[in-house]
Amino acid sequence: MHRRARQVLLVSAVAVVTAAGFAWIGAATPADAAPVSLQSVVPVPVSAQPAAGVTYTLPAAATIQTPTGSPAATAVGSYLADLLRPSTGYALPVTTTSGTPTSGIALLLSGADPSVGSEGYQLDVTAALVTVRAQTPAGLFHGVQTLRQLLPAAVEARTVQPGPWELAGGRIVDYPRYGYRGAMLDVSRHFFGVDVVKRYLDEISQYKINTLHLHLSDDQGWRIVVDAWPRLATVGGSTQVGGGAGGYYTKAQYTDLVAYAAARHITIVPEIDMPGHTNAALASYAELNCNNTAPPLYTGTSVGFSSLCVGKEITYTFVQQVLAELAALTPGPYLHIGGDEANSTSDADYRTFMNRIQPFVGNAGKTVMGWHQLGQADHTPGRIAQYWGTTTSDADLSAAVSKGAKVVMSPANKAYLDMKYTNQTPLGLSWAGLIEVQTAYNWDPATLLTNVPASAILGVEAPMWSETLTKLADIEFMAFPRLPALAELAWSPQSARNWDAFKTRLGAQGPRWTAQGINFYRSPQVPWATPPATGR
Ligand code: ACM
Repeated sequence: MHRRARQVLLVSAVAVVTAAGFAWIGAATPADAAPVSLQSVVPVPVSAQPAAGVTYTLPAAATIQTPTGSPAATAVGSYLADLLRPSTGYALPVTTTSGTPTSGIALLLSGADPSVGSEGYQLDVTAALVTVRAQTPAGLFHGVQTLRQLLPAAVEARTVQPGPWELAGGRIVDYPRYGYRGAMLDVSRHFFGVDVVKRYLDEISQYKINTLHLHLSDDQGWRIVVDAWPRLATVGGSTQVGGGAGGYYTKAQYTDLVAYAAARHITIVPEIDMPGHTNAALASYAELNCNNTAPPLYTGTSVGFSSLCVGKEITYTFVQQVLAELAALTPGPYLHIGGDEANSTSDADYRTFMNRIQPFVGNAGKTVMGWHQLGQADHTPGRIAQYWGTTTSDADLSAAVSKGAKVVMSPANKAYLDMKYTNQTPLGLSWAGLIEVQTAYNWDPATLLTNVPASAILGVEAPMWSETLTKLADIEFMAFPRLPALAELAWSPQSARNWDAFKTRLGAQGPRWTAQGINFYRSPQVPWATPPATGR
């Protein structure tokens, strides 16, 4: 068996300062500035047809109209109003209608081009009104993210800006390439509280990401309350890399995160990593260890040294109870059971363990997701293998696919947001390579792997491991601008993607991140737009 250990090269986990990005958007959009063009959206839309000479100007008395009888569509209207009110200073009441609006902003669940499917939308901008049409509230939400990017960057400010609030006329018809468009946050190596995760959900939802995978357990920390095994949180969650206080989510906090994500049409995928990466659990309960002795809590960054005790019956009681409680809290379809870097579990034990626990997921009403090494174990219906390798073929992944698994692509040398951009980057690791923006962008999820058919690819996920990341500004610096680049791989057709056009579109996002207070890496590969100077 060839499992590769991650060689963790830790730079200082604490002595890292990144430039804060809280610049003030102090100027009006210059009166002569052209509105944002329909083709400049990230991820690039499937089709955008400008209407020459047509502009819509949002009036102070505009309303946001949503369909009668769909509270979820009205909620998207309220989300849009909450975005636009602070910077415009307009009241923007959200109303319901069963007719066809003729002014303002309309979000409608009828009349979209059928190609938009379950997550896409059609956006029409005329001189009289802006209309987003979709078949679902999720489609409306994605259309609203596009509408937001078509307004001037100053719309992202949280204080009143002068306007005018103009949009270029035309039509966008847009829908995703892949149904799984993910980000992952490792809340185990360093714990991030509910407010940080909510902020990350806000940030990723702008780029039509629809899944957040939470890596809830590892050697350094267990981050979710399990009633049947309370010491997992109170002991296993009590520290983190570097020895800080750690933390954990109560069930109420986790449920709040799930709801906050759902309001942004994002599904939470919780991960309990097993049978390796389990020191926090082993330290919490002596009886989970083969020698009945709890090891100390661990605050370093090595991998591959821990294993649940495959030969003990209590191990299976433990796993079954943990997964059942997590399933009961999680409305999404997947439970991620890890399965990577089980370097302290024999090959035979690994298969025995995985084959025994996978049915617990199905019995709890969920579908198995795991790192691609779980291809060594038997298939279970609907199983997803998450590829994190750095090569273009892998025996475990091929085994998973040949047994029927679908694949989520997270190649570590392209999609890992914790890799350094360059060897000057103050945060992050480099065991999978350096990942500048162009490297993150320039690959095709359908063709990267030589022996996995395009039809097996379910989507793309951008993982963020947190050995070196301790705060929101660190997460933002590693995600921006690579997360939007990976979001475009997951959403936009391959034929519409092109680095030279992308880097200009990406550069135009910079003033939006500045206005939002996002701390981002000013990659020299990207021609960053500057916000208008104050006083003009
Ligand atoms: C991993 O990076 N060990 C999934």
